[in-house]
Amino acid sequence: MFIPVAQPDIGEEELDAVIKTVKSGWISSIGENILEFESKYASYCGLKYGVATSSGTTALHLCLASSGIGPGDEIIVPSLTFVATANAVMYTGAKPVFVDSELQTWNIDPQQIESKINKNTKAIIPVHLYGHPAKMDQILSIARKYNLAVYEDVAEAHGAKYRNNRVGSLGNAGCFSFFGNKIITTGEGGMVVTNNKKFAEKMKTLRDHGTSKRRRYYYPWLGFNYRMTNIQAAIGLAQLEKIDKIIAKKKWIAGTYEKYLKPIVQKIELSPHESWADSVFWMYSILVTSTGKISRDNLMFKLKEVGIDSRPFFYPIHRYKRFDCHENFKITEYLASAGINLPSSPSLDESQIRFICENIIRILDE
Ligand SMILES: Cc1ncc(COP(=O)(O)O)c(C=O)c1O
Repeated sequence: MFIPVAQPDIGEEELDAVIKTVKSGWISSIGENILEFESKYASYCGLKYGVATSSGTTALHLCLASSGIGPGDEIIVPSLTFVATANAVMYTGAKPVFVDSELQTWNIDPQQIESKINKNTKAIIPVHLYGHPAKMDQILSIARKYNLAVYEDVAEAHGAKYRNNRVGSLGNAGCFSFFGNKIITTGEGGMVVTNNKKFAEKMKTLRDHGTSKRRRYYYPWLGFNYRMTNIQAAIGLAQLEKIDKIIAKKKWIAGTYEKYLKPIVQKIELSPHESWADSVFWMYSILVTSTGKISRDNLMFKLKEVGIDSRPFFYPIHRYKRFDCHENFKITEYLASAGINLPSSPSLDESQIRFICENIIRILDE
């Protein structure tokens, strides 16, 4: 037996949608599925416009590039996130400015944002890490005070809610990923959602080589090819039909882990679950906090021996040389060294979760 960390929930519906699309001949980035997926996903988020992209990374870059961010600008990002959040800032020529995490939610610490703002700061990119919303009220009020844009990186939190509003709909735009391990997938793919029509139009232009609307085959702007294919959008539409079921299963998985890990809560920390947040628990996670004999890496190694896959938390991204950051972020360092993502696929059943938890308890007891 091998229990992977993540497996997509795909089946006959996705297969039928792909076959139908391939048979139609509309296999590139022109086609009805794209428009339907953009409009249905935007309205799922409570917004008007969606711009489908080739990945979550290109969604982030397209969003930043379309808002005019470039050399000389500074963008505030968390130091604990997937590296694409900061890479996308670098692609524009702007500088990512890192902020430490907070213990409560593992997300960017809003208390430490203001001290990083100067005249060059243009935007904040909060990330809703592992499916748990960041503290958006504080972040939005800082953004208002200093006239900054807020672009949410929602790659890991489709459908999560912050005080009854879907994350991705709270700032100027939300950037999603549909990579194979995400809440819903299109294989590779992404989307920017927004209520700003002009901004959505600008993104559609730059997504397609900077094309002119008035003159065919005329490209007055420096754009990209960041388009999603009609085949990917067909998969996305089939996945969107299942999103509520997938999220309900993720929440059940979280509750089941909580139940079986209860006996050892003095040795580990469980995934955050704040009362104001409706987390989607993209990756159910624990922190190995005990001062005991077993290290985080050792626990992961021993889980692998019995067929249980796991993943360490992201490497603190401010430490990559190219970002030229010389600060020390204590909470990020701690989380990155203690955190493990446990198997979180929608296909998990109770006996598998019990097996995983029994093994964690046994190994930590050794
Ligand atoms: C927080 C975060 N941002 C951005 C991305 C980039 O998405 P993609 O892999 O689709 O480019 C990911 C995921 O992979 C992510 O987890």
